[in-house]
Amino acid sequence: MKKFLIFNWKMNGDDNYCRQIIDYMNSNQNINDNFEIILCPPIVFFNNFQDKKTNFHLGAQNSAFEISGSYTGEISPEMIKKIGGEYVILGHSERRKYFFENESMILKKMEKAIECKLTPIVCVHGFSEDRSYIADIINDFINHKSSSDLIIAYEPEFSIGSGISDTIDSIEKNINNIKNVYKNRQLNGKNIYVAYGGSVNEKNSRDILSVCDGVLIGKASMNFESFCKILEK
Ligand code: PGA
Repeated sequence: MKKFLIFNWKMNGDDNYCRQIIDYMNSNQNINDNFEIILCPPIVFFNNFQDKKTNFHLGAQNSAFEISGSYTGEISPEMIKKIGGEYVILGHSERRKYFFENESMILKKMEKAIECKLTPIVCVHGFSEDRSYIADIINDFINHKSSSDLIIAYEPEFSIGSGISDTIDSIEKNINNIKNVYKNRQLNGKNIYVAYGGSVNEKNSRDILSVCDGVLIGKASMNFESFCKILEK
């Protein structure tokens, strides 16, 4: 099974960095083809990647909880899909902290993203902190009539941007606890993957990937050398 590498640029990057990434992606033979590579730059940069997408996918960092309407400043999941987005990160802890997103809002965003055929990447803080929220995410996903995939990203708050990743044991425990929530459920052809995020870099990515389905990478996304090393065979 492929492992997801999700690069969250946050509010960073420029046209030059996009070009550097595209050139690398298009020319490098050494990229590990067991990775499903998802680049999540600010969506104003999506146009840089149109027609050049070969071995990677585009994701947004947020989307609205409705598909259209009077929601000043919001971007519809349908619009994201139309400009080439295939994934969307939802409920990142920075969205919860700075933009006061709550769980019911995030669940609504997930539902609308699925309706627009985006694969949601829903962030949670950890099994003990978000136990019932994780169950709600999984139930809502399974009960949704559209078929799609879901990625849940376990992202302990202390590890985001701190340079201190969680331990492999704790990552494995949290991932397994989340997987246990749906272990005996009928997924009817849908897929759920559980990833980890928080201070992932070129030194720890392989070890972390050995205990989960993917990694969500913030800071190291914006360091070209780290980015290349994470992708390589
Ligand atoms: P980080 O960010 O890799 O800089 O810790 C991860 C995230 O915010 O998802």
